[in-house]
Amino acid sequence: QWWSQWSHVCRGFIWVRWLSPTIQTHAGCRYVSKPATKTQVEFDYNGPSMKTTVPGPRSQELMKQLGDIQNVGAVNFFCNYEESRGNYLVDVDGNRMLDLYTQISSIPIGYNHPALVKLVTNPNNLSTFVNRPALGILPPENFPDKLTESLLSVAPSGMSRVQTMACGSCSNENAFKSIFIWYRNKERGHNTPSDEDLSTCMINQAPGCPDVSILSFMGSFHGRTMGCLATTHSKAIHKLDVPSFDWPIAPFPRLQYPLEEFSRENAQEESRCLEEVEDLIVKWRQKGKPVAGIVTEPIQAEGGDNHASPDFFRGLRNIARKHGCAFHVDEVQTGGGTTGKFWAHEHWGMDDPADIVSFSKKLLTGGYFQKDELQPYRIFNTWMGDPSKNLFLAEVLNVIRRENLLEEVTRSGKALLNGLYELQAQYPGILSRARGQGTFCAVDVCDDATRNSILFKAREKGVILGGCGDRTIRFRPALVFKEYHVHIFLNIFNDVLAQHK
Ligand SMILES: Cc1ncc(COP(=O)(O)O)c(C=O)c1O
Repeated sequence: QWWSQWSHVCRGFIWVRWLSPTIQTHAGCRYVSKPATKTQVEFDYNGPSMKTTVPGPRSQELMKQLGDIQNVGAVNFFCNYEESRGNYLVDVDGNRMLDLYTQISSIPIGYNHPALVKLVTNPNNLSTFVNRPALGILPPENFPDKLTESLLSVAPSGMSRVQTMACGSCSNENAFKSIFIWYRNKERGHNTPSDEDLSTCMINQAPGCPDVSILSFMGSFHGRTMGCLATTHSKAIHKLDVPSFDWPIAPFPRLQYPLEEFSRENAQEESRCLEEVEDLIVKWRQKGKPVAGIVTEPIQAEGGDNHASPDFFRGLRNIARKHGCAFHVDEVQTGGGTTGKFWAHEHWGMDDPADIVSFSKKLLTGGYFQKDELQPYRIFNTWMGDPSKNLFLAEVLNVIRRENLLEEVTRSGKALLNGLYELQAQYPGILSRARGQGTFCAVDVCDDATRNSILFKAREKGVILGGCGDRTIRFRPALVFKEYHVHIFLNIFNDVLAQHK
């Protein structure tokens, strides 16, 4: 059964396609986009194709069925993953949509990439997919090699240790624990807890459970588990009714775009925020809740795609060092090449950018890299990751290198951002603050209702986009999103905007 399903996927590929020029004559198009170049695509479709509204009748039927079992409040529609390929997601009603949201930014090289399908169909890999080990106690023979081939080959500067985990939240949650354990060992001057530490921790009391804190930023998102939630400040709905810690929250710079045009104003805003960070560290130390670590995203994603300059992050890194706090960079959404560099923090140009870097999404496995001195003592759970994801990741990295996908991302990101600049000039009443790095782009819409209507209408025309913040549209295509996909998107987006004028 398993084999016949996969061979069905393989048969579904049209290995070489030529992009149809019909997209350029899209009805009602006012956006003068460069014609998409006729280009050879290995495993993509040639454009969106819509048969019903979305969700269509089959999706609605399934929604009812699943609704009897689970909460389906967030389900958009049901998917046909066998038929989806490249940049196109196909739904159960046969609608084929250009996907610029990619499963909340977590598909690195498109749907059903032949290189990954080949990996699964290779009999040598069978046991890795069939047997999921408890990696902390019984790892397979090839585990160190596979880690070296996959994660260590992209280790951030200064880091040669990595811990795998299942998802973004549990990566951050365990990274915070590592920080706290490191901090307390540093305070003790050794790694051996006292009898009092051991007895008080059992009843959630200090000194065994110390009152130490993590400093985070307003607008940040680091996950929804209890510890992470204390550092998440993007939307009230995530936090409501859940007890939390009294940890310091600093303002994140609110920059003006395009960044080059507002460098003086933005520099002022960033130094205001850095001053506030230092004040908070001092205040929390005085309160008896010293800051053990600072956590930040390189670009605040869920919170509305808020950027800050390399200078800001260099300043933050220095403040962390000065006050003896660990510096944790959460690259769960920014990591994996989408900004045009493998890690967004590489844009800061630092040899020693962080003490901990967490990841998930496009890297397919969760986890975190850390400096040697932050060795994760007592970090453990049943699976500690999944070796099959390391196999996939090693192959994804091969494809990224072989196909120069970081250069592609830079090229298509430029085309996307330029297109957004043009559209915001054309529709100043609707769009503003276009911004981005690589294809990690975003644009603000005049209000929440118009943003949601644009997202809905774009989907009706065969383009999947995501929202973030209060009224932002975010673009999170896969790394195989090329310049001609940008032009397909811009033409459709223009049609949608024209309807809202
Ligand atoms: C920056 C960041 N950190 C952490 C998370 C949490 O990851 P997960 O949803 O896999 O728990 C997310 C998820 O969107 C994220 O964007």
